Amino acid sequence: MATENAMPAPTALVRAQNVQKWFGSHQVLKGVDLSVERGQVMSIIGPSGSGKSTFLRCINQLETYQAGRIYVGDALIGFEEARDGKLVALSNRRIVAQRRRIGMVFQQFNLFWHMTVLENIIEAPVLVLGQPRHQAERKAMELLERVGLAEKANAFPSKLSGGQQQRAAIARALAMNPELMLFDEPTSALDPETTGEVLSVIAELASSGMTMIIVTHEMSFARQVSDRVMLMENGMVDYGGPPEQFFGAQPSPRLKAFLSTIH
Ligand SMILES: Nc1ncnc2c1ncn2[C@@H]1O[C@H](COP(=O)(O)OP(=O)(O)O)[C@@H](O)[C@H]1O
Ligand SMILES: [Mg+2]
Repeated sequence: MATENAMPAPTALVRAQNVQKWFGSHQVLKGVDLSVERGQVMSIIGPSGSGKSTFLRCINQLETYQAGRIYVGDALIGFEEARDGKLVALSNRRIVAQRRRIGMVFQQFNLFWHMTVLENIIEAPVLVLGQPRHQAERKAMELLERVGLAEKANAFPSKLSGGQQQRAAIARALAMNPELMLFDEPTSALDPETTGEVLSVIAELASSGMTMIIVTHEMSFARQVSDRVMLMENGMVDYGGPPEQFFGAQPSPRLKAFLSTIH
């Protein structure tokens, strides 16, 4: 096997190599390279339209990338490599299996409106993982305790505040025992009063050792929870480093320009 096909280093849970994506003739990802070590938290910041959501969506195959590679663990996401080195798309069944290992939390919660919070959480464990219902319910209640929502187990999402809905969505993602969590602007749709409660749940998850990639505009939060912060601009990861270095005394001109748009 050629060296360029070598497996990623064993400690990196996520490794993106030269990831490229077009929507029609519009190239949205222009060669994204990054890696996230197991147990670490990476935040991605950057202007609207720079490709942050598309990149996260490529990691769990809500979008398909057209060049480059994304590995999660030793799995090449979305493809397998033919003998000639060409990438061949995986079957839907195998994509679904890969996606199971990755939890995603969206800006707009995406809860099922016709189900209670508890039903939302046990849906996939029961239907996809085949867990017995009582076992899934026990786990769901533990997760609801963890996100501070145990008393809302039987409520419908429409009766919850935005912050409570987002905490339920986080519990739902965790119910699948993911090895990686992706957050796409998890607090952007929230009132300032409920943003903090969601950020504390995410911070608790970070300190528990979950590997996470978080797209956020909450700079002080990114600074506090991240092992590394990356700036994405125009379909490329422009610049990144540990938070103290990233936000340090001499931010790059590009970072300065971006920060000035959000403060
Ligand atoms: N499904 C789609 N079809 C066509 N263009 C899209 C689609 N999704 C995103 N785009 C475009 O891709 C670019 C990057 O979008 P996105 O990844 O959502 O950026 P960000 O999350 O950084 O704001 C934008 O120009 C956006 O309009
Ligand atoms: Mg986005």
